Amino acid sequence: MTDSTAMIAVEGLRKSIRNGARTVEILKGIDFTVPAGQFVAIMGSSGSGKSTLLGLLAGLDTPTAGDVRLNGTAISYLAEDKLAKVRGTTVGFVFQSYQLVPTLTALENVLLPYELNAEGGDDGLAKARELLASVGLSDRLDHYPVQLSGGEQQRVALARAFILQPPIVLADEPTGNLDTTNGAHVLELLLHLNRTAGTTLVLVTHDPVLAGYANRRIVLRDGTVVADELQQPVEMVAP
Ligand SMILES: Nc1ncnc2c1ncn2[C@@H]1O[C@H](COP(=O)(O)OP(=O)(O)OP(=O)(O)O)[C@@H](O)[C@H]1O
Ligand SMILES: [Mg+2]
Repeated sequence: MTDSTAMIAVEGLRKSIRNGARTVEILKGIDFTVPAGQFVAIMGSSGSGKSTLLGLLAGLDTPTAGDVRLNGTAISYLAEDKLAKVRGTTVGFVFQSYQLVPTLTALENVLLPYELNAEGGDDGLAKARELLASVGLSDRLDHYPVQLSGGEQQRVALARAFILQPPIVLADEPTGNLDTTNGAHVLELLLHLNRTAGTTLVLVTHDPVLAGYANRRIVLRDGTVVADELQQPVEMVAP
């Protein structure tokens, strides 16, 4: 049964892909619900289906069966215009690859969702600057993606995910390409937003240390959930 009060509800979620004559089952029936404000770490070996699951949670992909509800709205079979609206107002997404717009500066990339979705108001620019400062990029505002390192691009992508203050943030290995210090900054930002703004956070990570900061750990293997446990999160210690 779906819990209508859940921020995220996943029910009977399946994803298969046709590969020539064969059908490859990537997700084989996933069920879980995430209450508002929870920080969930999704773990599992390479190829277990983590990024596929996150793409379905974000409404970037359509399941073969089952459904995803975000904040009470079933998104999996919505028309693209309705889906775009829900996506814009409900989820921020940090991809495994950064997906910045190459022709826009760091500041413009962070502002983009705001300009596409915000209804009036002119505090977007200040918010974008503040977010870029919080990921240590105040001196890179006017740099284009090619002028930024991989880790810097990842931090711009993270700032962009938060500009609309979405109730849900989905992040796929957001610290995977960062050194220890920058990784800790990104994690601090994620934790800060989870705890102060009550952002529901779903983080895909291979790193057991990172997963230790979560309230809950879901482990995938071959497209199924093999563990789903609540845990006492580790307290963040300033680096
Ligand atoms: N478009 C596709 N066509 C065929 N197979 C695919 C496609 N997309 C993903 N897969 C397969 O589905 C499986 C799960 O992929 P997914 O990207 O979700 O894994 P992952 O858990 O995120 O792995 P990683 O930790 O390496 O990022 C993999 O075996 C992958 O090869
Ligand atoms: Mg992946």
